[in-house]
Amino acid sequence: MKVLVIGAGNMGLTYAEGMSKSKLLKNKNIMVLDKSDKKLEELHQISHFDAYKELEDCVPQADIIFVAVKPHHAEELFKNMQPMVTADQIIVSIMAGVTLETIMGFSGVKKVIRAMPNLPAKVGLGLTSYVASSEVSRIEISTIESLLNTTGKSILVSKESFIDASTGISGSGPAYVFYFMQSMMDAALQMGFSKKDSTVLVSQTFTGAIELFNQSDISPKSWMEKVASKGGTTQAALDSMDDNNVNKLIKEAAFAAFSRAVELGKEN
Ligand SMILES: NC(=O)c1ccc[n+]([C@@H]2O[C@H](COP(=O)([O-])OP(=O)(O)OC[C@H]3O[C@@H](n4cnc5c(N)ncnc54)[C@H](OP(=O)(O)O)[C@@H]3O)[C@@H](O)[C@H]2O)c1
Repeated sequence: MKVLVIGAGNMGLTYAEGMSKSKLLKNKNIMVLDKSDKKLEELHQISHFDAYKELEDCVPQADIIFVAVKPHHAEELFKNMQPMVTADQIIVSIMAGVTLETIMGFSGVKKVIRAMPNLPAKVGLGLTSYVASSEVSRIEISTIESLLNTTGKSILVSKESFIDASTGISGSGPAYVFYFMQSMMDAALQMGFSKKDSTVLVSQTFTGAIELFNQSDISPKSWMEKVASKGGTTQAALDSMDDNNVNKLIKEAAFAAFSRAVELGKEN
């Protein structure tokens, strides 16, 4: 099996490196294409992938084509690919907002997976939600899932609208966590801690809480109840959050991202 990654940017290289480290594929079976000379130069320095500039030199050899260019480059790219693709090839697109229908329409390929990764994929802890066109077989889905899982975990969703919804949870979600972290760091600084100590206080608190959650089978709500005793310090903080409707505001933020993903999909 040969995989071609188109777009050697942040996400494209994350997947190429993930697949390479996983040992699912030998490096000689991972091809990377980019139109930017600077990126190609960098790729030649990495040297464990075959780097290409022209579609005709690599698209015909690929069984699976990962597309990781910006959404506004999609139309031109797919139209250029159309004369050289075959019915057996599978396109896996990670482009935000570019629908299965658009990809099939411009490329002529009917086996298409649309995936939405998130930033922690860069450290092997990503979450990719994905949906498949009806022409992709179960065996092919399982192969693609193994490739996606080289950057973390994945979930197969039953309909495309869940891709936009997952953008509001896992896609944009890391930024919500950073927002919360920054607010806590600001509070620590205001209490008089140094920047270094504020950073350690907050990062270790997040790491510890998430590890506790991951090693248990109880909900975040149950953990809150365990941590907070009546009349205690944690309860004072949780009451303040409830009084300020923080839960409602976070949900609204997630829905704002979901709505924006839907809007962007209509623009592409
Ligand atoms: N970053 C994230 O966290 C994230 C999360 C979810 C989804 N995504 C999606 O992932 C995709 C890639 O994002 P990114 O941040 O990795 O972008 P990026 O860093 O800009 O990388 C894209 C690369 O593709 C190249 N390129 C553009 N058109 C091309 C073409 N026709 N043929 C070959 N190469 C081409 C670009 O070259 P130039 O720079 O010369 O244009 C650039 O080197 C986007 O569609 C985005 O929606 C990203």
